[in-house]
Amino acid sequence: MSELLRSHPIIPVVTIENSDDAAPLARALARGGILIAEITFRTAAAAAAIEAIRKEVPEVLVGAGTVLTPALMRTAESAGAQFLVSPGATPELLSNTPADLPFVPGVASVSEMMMAKDHGFFMQKFFPAEALGGTSFLKAIAAPLTGVSFCATGGIGPENLKSYLSLPNVAAVGGSWMVPQALMAEKNWDEISSLSGAAVTMILGGAKSLRHESVNLGGEA
Ligand code: 3PG
Repeated sequence: MSELLRSHPIIPVVTIENSDDAAPLARALARGGILIAEITFRTAAAAAAIEAIRKEVPEVLVGAGTVLTPALMRTAESAGAQFLVSPGATPELLSNTPADLPFVPGVASVSEMMMAKDHGFFMQKFFPAEALGGTSFLKAIAAPLTGVSFCATGGIGPENLKSYLSLPNVAAVGGSWMVPQALMAEKNWDEISSLSGAAVTMILGGAKSLRHESVNLGGEA
């Protein structure tokens, strides 16, 4: 998972109401240079949306977000999810991860980070990042939590994504800023593409796509 997130350091967190929108949305992200999407299990359309992206836009890596239970892990896996993300790290989730599927547990405290690490999860979702203290928190826990890297999400956008990605213990940032509900409802794929492209440009200085690009923002490789 660490490898995967380092090649995809910006993860759109997508909530989809209508699975027919899944493929056009994924194509819009790809046009902007983002080749990954986390489809949240916050709507009934999530599983069908994941299936549609796997089938119609295979160049976009698709994961399931808001995976709250082991049952949802299995639902997401059956839909074809290529990775799983949860806002939390319950003992049930940490012990019932599908064998071949990368899982990123959500953590909000040092104890949760230690528990997830003890279960072998070295890539964790720091959520909700801004509300928890943001980059100051992540800097403060870098020394005691060696070996753990984070995908920071919650309150991240164009104004602060670079400060997160410049930290050695942050591999990726996630967020909904390039896929806002209003643009999704309007099916404004062009604007979603341009918000995605702007985020990519911000960290890569204009390179076309994040996949296979090495991102060097001063942090560890
Ligand atoms: C998530 O689940 O990662 C968050 O909903 C994303 O947070 P944001 O909407 O503040 O970007």
